Amino acid sequence: MTRGLFVTFEGGDGVGKTTQISLLRATLESAGVGVTVTREPGGTPLGNEIRELVLHSRDHISPRAEALLYAADRAHNVATIVRPALERGEVVLQDRYLDSSVAYQGAGRVLGAEDIKRISLWAADDLVPDLTVLLDLDEVAAAARLTAQDKPFDRFESEKAEFHSRVRKAFLDIAAAEPARFLVLDASEPPEALAHTIATRVSDMLANLNT
Ligand code: TYD
Repeated sequence: MTRGLFVTFEGGDGVGKTTQISLLRATLESAGVGVTVTREPGGTPLGNEIRELVLHSRDHISPRAEALLYAADRAHNVATIVRPALERGEVVLQDRYLDSSVAYQGAGRVLGAEDIKRISLWAADDLVPDLTVLLDLDEVAAAARLTAQDKPFDRFESEKAEFHSRVRKAFLDIAAAEPARFLVLDASEPPEALAHTIATRVSDMLANLNT
């Protein structure tokens, strides 16, 4: 049985998830809330090895193998980091989770949303987030932010614009299908305004959890 709150952050590359996670972490910690921050891929040492493979392998990775590598990373991160933290009653803030697989492998790689969701849920032993923050940004603005970061592109960042359009649309479709789980925000808004909206929602959820 879980007692904490599981919050995931989703969106395309370059939308500002990392910034929002840091801001929310600081807000929650200053209010005395226990927080665990993790990410996929790469929330664990094993996950970091998988991250290196899926993001930087020089060899071609077949799409189904790619989906299973993400699922393996997810299984290990959920079992060893996320569930234990939730059982301690903490708030878990996670950079990407199963919706990324549905968007990138299901839509981006065209493997199909249903199969990818099934694999992900099996890997995660059916752990679904309490809240998913989707930072939505149009592909052109997201690409400009990535270029401005001035670091080498990984296997996904160097994908074509159509790939990123499919990914963005898939995220929006998932959010529309599960409105209660999602907080969809326009990532072009100032970071402080986004942070305020997210913190308000999470505080409300924490208040309900404790009543
Ligand atoms: P991320 O850590 O957000 O990249 P960065 O550190 O460069 O901001 O994510 C790495 C990439 O992995 C990202 O392009 C999306 C992709 N990804 C998938 O394709 N499927 C998945 O299930 C996950 C979790 C990530």
